[in-house]
Amino acid sequence: MLDNDLLQKAIKILDDGGLVGIPTETVYGLAADAENQEAVQSIYKAKNRPSNHPLIVHLANAKAIPRWASDFNEDAKKLTDTFWPGPLTIILKKSDVAKDFVTGGQDTVALRCPSHPIAHRLLEIFDRGQGKGLAAPSANSFGRISPSTAQHVRDDLGEKPEGKVDLIIDGGPCEVGIESTILDLSGDTPRILREGAIDSDQISSVIGKPVMHGTVYNSPRVSGTLKSHYAPKHKMEMVSVQDLPGRTQFLARQFKTFGLIAPEKIARRFKPVSEKTFAYSSVPELSAHLYQWMHDLDKEDIDRIFVVPPEYSPSSAGVLDRLTRASAKKE
Ligand code: TXA
Ligand code: MG
Repeated sequence: MLDNDLLQKAIKILDDGGLVGIPTETVYGLAADAENQEAVQSIYKAKNRPSNHPLIVHLANAKAIPRWASDFNEDAKKLTDTFWPGPLTIILKKSDVAKDFVTGGQDTVALRCPSHPIAHRLLEIFDRGQGKGLAAPSANSFGRISPSTAQHVRDDLGEKPEGKVDLIIDGGPCEVGIESTILDLSGDTPRILREGAIDSDQISSVIGKPVMHGTVYNSPRVSGTLKSHYAPKHKMEMVSVQDLPGRTQFLARQFKTFGLIAPEKIARRFKPVSEKTFAYSSVPELSAHLYQWMHDLDKEDIDRIFVVPPEYSPSSAGVLDRLTRASAKKE
């Protein structure tokens, strides 16, 4: 799986200030040298993203943190010991190495160490024993569904010369499937700014204190602030098991068609009615496939996407957050 020539090619592109689409365990990222201003600016350009939105700096390991952060505190040490490499991004007070063009002018920096073997190896080489990092937002155009396969990146941003990315590395479908948990450790109280696969219970049990739930979406600075972020083109509606028959019959009376994402038992009953039915048997399975299914359903000629969501629990908070956002009315 680890193609050394391909990794070397990617490193050369990154050293030259280019953009590489990289697989991570959460979603595909659009990576550039986090210390190269022009390279970082070209990320914003490729994504069509407002340039005051801060980016996550991806690192090979926690040894690189003191280079990027001025206060590598105890909570951060414990959490990175436990969850890195993995889908946890931490926010710390920044050092002078983290420039405004990466942090969006904030005095903090977001740091993450991905566990996908390709991203991880690429970062180990790029680190050069100095703690160098790669800025990488999700590899999608601003406002579009995040990519969980290399094909999503090819379809949206594309490879040069026709597309916008110098190289897209195919590392298979992303295992986690939704973006990393973002935890702000720069203030007095740890605060989750974006829910993800590593949940508040897991974090609390490592640091031995409660975590707050956050406000990243209320900040004008950060993407995902739009209520309808992550939304597919078709209208998506969350519906309970009880209401599903009524809702689908209502649509059928208007000769309208629908796609469905539902727990296996329920999906089985609806499969004959709508072929565009996707079934999940667990929260991690829903999370792993959600963006793929949203991309697939977007290509279908349907009028509505119904989703029967999992029950709320700390471990389903991430996927429920994405479903809520995807179902929110577009503003
Ligand atoms: O799973 C992930 O985190 C993926 C993969 C590629 O690593 N990356 C990702 O990046 O989701 P992006 O740019 O799509 O989302 C990063 C979010 C921003 O929207 C912003 O909310 C938050 O990180 N962020 C970055 N720096 C921050 C800071 N200093 N303070 C608060 N939020 C920050
Ligand atoms: Mg994103």
